[in-house]
Amino acid sequence: MTQPRLSVVIASTRPHRIGHHVADWVTSQVPDGFDLTVHDLREWAFPLLDEPEQPSTGIYTHEKTRAWSEAIRATDALVLVMPEYNRGYNAALKNAIDYLYAEWEGLPVGCVGYGWYGASYAKEALRQTLERVKMTVVDGPGLVFEKTLGQDGEVRAGAEDETALAAMFAELDASARTPLDR
Ligand SMILES: Cc1cc2nc3c(=O)[nH]c(=O)nc-3n(C[C@H](O)[C@H](O)[C@H](O)COP(=O)(O)O)c2cc1C
Repeated sequence: MTQPRLSVVIASTRPHRIGHHVADWVTSQVPDGFDLTVHDLREWAFPLLDEPEQPSTGIYTHEKTRAWSEAIRATDALVLVMPEYNRGYNAALKNAIDYLYAEWEGLPVGCVGYGWYGASYAKEALRQTLERVKMTVVDGPGLVFEKTLGQDGEVRAGAEDETALAAMFAELDASARTPLDR
């Protein structure tokens, strides 16, 4: 296999978000040996799911859905950088997941959350969704406001978070080398 392809998804779409700062930290820690792409859901700007057919049919009417499908099929591992909103994960991320179905199956995914409790509630909710679409979920760090993350997005992650992130990348790398049948 050539270098595994890794996609980092910036989940927040808010105009004054801080998610891109967290994503910058994540991408700065990606080890050599991954072919990295960043997908920003604010740029993808998906409408609320508006495909006529169920995603499980794989019948996509809209060009943007087909492009999203191709983007996900063209990756070997995924990292979701996501905030916690009202003890869940953000709606734009759910919507982006709901657009596809078969594309997710078997894909290794790590989650890097951020919030007052390291996005622990959001990560738990997200795990259920990711398991429903049969992704291979790998644990990742959660940044905590006023400890490892400023409210302005300044990342103050220490050795513990960097070690957790490195472990996540190592697991993703190992899983990404198992060929997917999708
Ligand atoms: C609608 C909304 C709900 C929120 N709910 C939570 C929450 O339940 N737990 C938490 O830790 N932070 C919560 N926050 C604070 C966010 O973690 C914080 O605003 C963070 O910057 C959001 O990420 P973003 O700026 O990249 O969108 C909430 C923020 C918003 C906008």
